[in-house]
Amino acid sequence: MTQIGIGVIGMGWMGGVHSRAYNQIPDRFHDQGIESRLIVCADADGARADAARSRFRFQRATADWHDVIADPEVDVVSITTPNDLHLEIIRAAAAAGKHILCEKPVGKTPEETLEAAEIAQRAGILTFVGFNYRWAPLVQYARRLIERGDLGEITHYRGRFLNGYARDARGYLTWRFDIGHGYGTLSDLMPHVLDMAHLIVGPIDAVVANRATFIPQRPVPTGLTVGNPLGAATDQTTMGTVTNEDYVGVLARFGNGAQGTLEACRVINGSAADMSFEVHGTRGAIKWSLERMNELQVQRRSDENPADEGYTTVLSGPWHPHHADFNPAWGLNLSYDDLKSIEIFEFLRSVASGTQSDPGFAAAAAVAREQQAVVTSWASDRWERVASPAR
Ligand SMILES: NC(=O)c1ccc[n+]([C@@H]2O[C@H](COP(=O)([O-])OP(=O)(O)OC[C@H]3O[C@@H](n4cnc5c(N)ncnc54)[C@H](O)[C@@H]3O)[C@@H](O)[C@H]2O)c1
Repeated sequence: MTQIGIGVIGMGWMGGVHSRAYNQIPDRFHDQGIESRLIVCADADGARADAARSRFRFQRATADWHDVIADPEVDVVSITTPNDLHLEIIRAAAAAGKHILCEKPVGKTPEETLEAAEIAQRAGILTFVGFNYRWAPLVQYARRLIERGDLGEITHYRGRFLNGYARDARGYLTWRFDIGHGYGTLSDLMPHVLDMAHLIVGPIDAVVANRATFIPQRPVPTGLTVGNPLGAATDQTTMGTVTNEDYVGVLARFGNGAQGTLEACRVINGSAADMSFEVHGTRGAIKWSLERMNELQVQRRSDENPADEGYTTVLSGPWHPHHADFNPAWGLNLSYDDLKSIEIFEFLRSVASGTQSDPGFAAAAAVAREQQAVVTSWASDRWERVASPAR
């Protein structure tokens, strides 16, 4: 049994999801020889850290994240703070030799993501990134179908994350809407779209991109530190300016010749969590959406019998990767939090074996180079090439 000591920094939404997932490891992955020990959690809001300690059964809680890095019992650190703190914590954790699972986008800007990847590589630590949608059993299965050639050569890819989490203009002006804390939808939702495109099709060569801010003003919060603007302000009269983008649209040319469109939006109506892809090849096509993450639409071309051709619905079942860790039955559904449990298991498996696995910071850096090309295209209004990785 490999015992791994856990520290989590930032006990908002994601801090809770990570902590719950670490607690799931000895249960869901009981036969894998990994024991996660929840040592210490940190939040700048000391009361929130204390509440998380008792809720998730950490041994200790602190209001100073440096205590997590300094703790000799901590082997790995989950970074679940706002993006503008990621790099500083990564620098300290890497210097202390801790392995790191950082939430996307890994840093405040694409440049910080690239710096984080370099720091981790120099320090020789193992890294992982919160690209959780990869881990849906049917997404992993879709990848296998494509790898074994069931779709033929991939010609088209459409990826999107259309989300309405900020569609209410009465939602607070939290850090997510402040360019000082990083880009908006390009940092928040688009990294998932780009990572999924890499998993399914591969890297992007060139992009042309646009952006829009549909809700330019929001109520200024008083003393609120959580970043999810779910609660609408009722008594706020002071308004502030949204300084980053609500929407990003991208036309993409993939390295393998496939043509793509990518979109992300945080203020859209109708779509709740439409993190989706449609991929077409010379022999068939696949569609998947997070809103129906336990269903995969698969079309296989049949030249002999075109009358019966069409999409069929495959339901998640024990023969798809990791489904059986949650339940043994066909058609009984996994949830969003289960994807985080799979991600955290894959991270701990990498730490237990001492082997870097995917998606580490190199995967976040690949996304960051594409984000840089998007930002350049916003300014130039032209196609921009994605930089090659530095050697
Ligand atoms: N992978 C996903 O599906 C997903 C979903 C949501 C958020 N995220 C990412 O997770 C991260 C956190 O997002 P969230 O929605 O949980 O935000 P949140 O605002 O709910 O939580 C952030 C927490 O960090 C704490 N914090 C702020 N400064 C701190 C400091 N100096 N030291 C310690 N704690 C500090 C805050 O008090 C808060 O509790 C972001 O990077 C975001 O991009 C990922």
